[in-house]
Amino acid sequence: MCGIIGAVGRGDATLDTLLAGLSNLEYRGYDSAGLAVSGEELSVAKRSGELEVLEDALEGQSLSGNAGIGHTRWSTHGAPTDANAHPHTDCTDSVAVVHNGIIENYQSLRDELAAAGHEFKSETDTEVVPHLIESLLADGASPGTAFRQAVDRVEGSYAIAAVFAGSDTVFAARNDSPLVLGVGDDATYLGSDVPAFLEFTDRVVYLEDGEVAELSPAGWTVTTLAGDPVEKEIRTVDWESEDTGKSGYDHYMLKEIHEQPRALRQCLQERVNELAGTVDLGDAVNETLRGVDDVQLVACGTSYHAALYAAELFRSQGVRAQAFVASEYVTSPAPHGENTLVIGITQSGETADTLSALRDAQRRGVETLAVTNVVGSTAARECDGVLYIRSGPEIGVAATKTFSAQVVAANLVAAVMANGDTSHEFVSALRDLPGQVQTVLEETNAEAVADRFVDADAYFFIGRGYDYPVAMEGALKMKEITYKHAEGFPAGELKHGPLALVTGNTPVFAVVTGETGSEKTVGNVKEVEARNAPVVAVTDGRTDVERYADEVLEVPETDPRLAPVLANVQLQLVSYHVAKQLGRSIDKPRNLAKSVTVE
Ligand code: G6P
Repeated sequence: MCGIIGAVGRGDATLDTLLAGLSNLEYRGYDSAGLAVSGEELSVAKRSGELEVLEDALEGQSLSGNAGIGHTRWSTHGAPTDANAHPHTDCTDSVAVVHNGIIENYQSLRDELAAAGHEFKSETDTEVVPHLIESLLADGASPGTAFRQAVDRVEGSYAIAAVFAGSDTVFAARNDSPLVLGVGDDATYLGSDVPAFLEFTDRVVYLEDGEVAELSPAGWTVTTLAGDPVEKEIRTVDWESEDTGKSGYDHYMLKEIHEQPRALRQCLQERVNELAGTVDLGDAVNETLRGVDDVQLVACGTSYHAALYAAELFRSQGVRAQAFVASEYVTSPAPHGENTLVIGITQSGETADTLSALRDAQRRGVETLAVTNVVGSTAARECDGVLYIRSGPEIGVAATKTFSAQVVAANLVAAVMANGDTSHEFVSALRDLPGQVQTVLEETNAEAVADRFVDADAYFFIGRGYDYPVAMEGALKMKEITYKHAEGFPAGELKHGPLALVTGNTPVFAVVTGETGSEKTVGNVKEVEARNAPVVAVTDGRTDVERYADEVLEVPETDPRLAPVLANVQLQLVSYHVAKQLGRSIDKPRNLAKSVTVE
């Protein structure tokens, strides 16, 4: 998804700061990049393709100025071309604008501006903004007033930043699209997320919808669109800049897979009391969960698979629970009762579909809880309660450690819904889980399995009960990063259609853990085996499934509720190694984005 970086007060280092910010934003997925630096003159450079193409174009140029903005674009309106890349400028090159989101009334604005003689250079919705600003400047407005009045005319979702020729001030505003200020000692930064500028400062100010930030060498202010001052709190984020590096791993994804033991420990820390066998999520979350008898989970992608798992878990203890793909929930909201809680599971806390579903629930008066990784994210701020999964930054587009932490967080929520009382056995199983993930990471034969099946025509994944979300997630990971056909099914559904696709060159990954339904899954494995398809069993050894398997990915035995985490780690590794062998862009798969801020 598109990313924004801005910096004011960096003097000669402005260009390098913007390039560093753009590089930090690469993980979100993009197809073009650009920047504008303002000093005496306004200089703009932008290119379609990787950031390197822009860097090559800038070779030997020293864009000077004390203020600048940069952007990584993920196309929505218009193809990824140089002309459509941001920043966009007006007819007189007096203002440069970057924008995330979608301007819904751009066509009528564009018609109006074109009729007034403005000439457009791109197909984007964004370009109306610099032309609007230009016309307001021509009417005598100051840059700040022109920016506010232009933003006021825009409908839709946006994070917008603008820089003006001959000025070292950056203006920024947001509506439904994240924007955050970074407060340094001598400089101020702007980012669509914290990692954009985390290497420069960890002190941040989150902007809210309808607020305008003004960054100047003298400091920063935040006001309403009407110009009234707003008091803002500076928060310190506890992520280290090194957390966003690769630490010697070939890919962020591999690093994040290996960070899972630590992520799970952090998620559990000070929340479980092993001696007492209790779970405590803090007064606020405990209160939100009290008396809940119906849970609706809304999420997308990998987080949706965690939601599927959580729904199964809550149902197993007698709570009505259902998982919804967030975009479908918005289209067809589920009926709710007095004690319904809507839980949004979202790693980033910024996924537009999930936010939309949560807002829909709030409009209908239903209480909401965000389960998210990003402190201060929109979901965290807007929901009635928030439970942080504490995984540290996840840079790889394909989610890994956050899925595992979401599953663990679901167990904590389940325990609190059962009044915080859980068994000593279960609490010690939770405590042992990070170490068992470590064992899987050390002893896995996933690379050999990947080698054997790298040329397969397609990959199928089956599981039942808690293993079903793992099968779905295994398939999603495989398709996301290898670009090969992969599907997950409930094991029992295989014979109702998908079995027609099974051949000798379509390995079937059977996730068989725990006890409930496992024997039946073994029966499904035999159906597959009879059709000559290779079988890879991902198992904790509680059944004899390995007798029918060509390859076995073993996981240590644990509580059946937690085994899916271990099985999933094996499947993450298989997908990773297949993708690596195929030479795919593992951390930034084609067409995908880490944080999808449009519906
Ligand atoms: C995008 C990513 C997926 C992710 C999904 C939900 O589609 O490519 O990897 O699972 O968004 O993201 P969230 O931040 O809401 O968990």
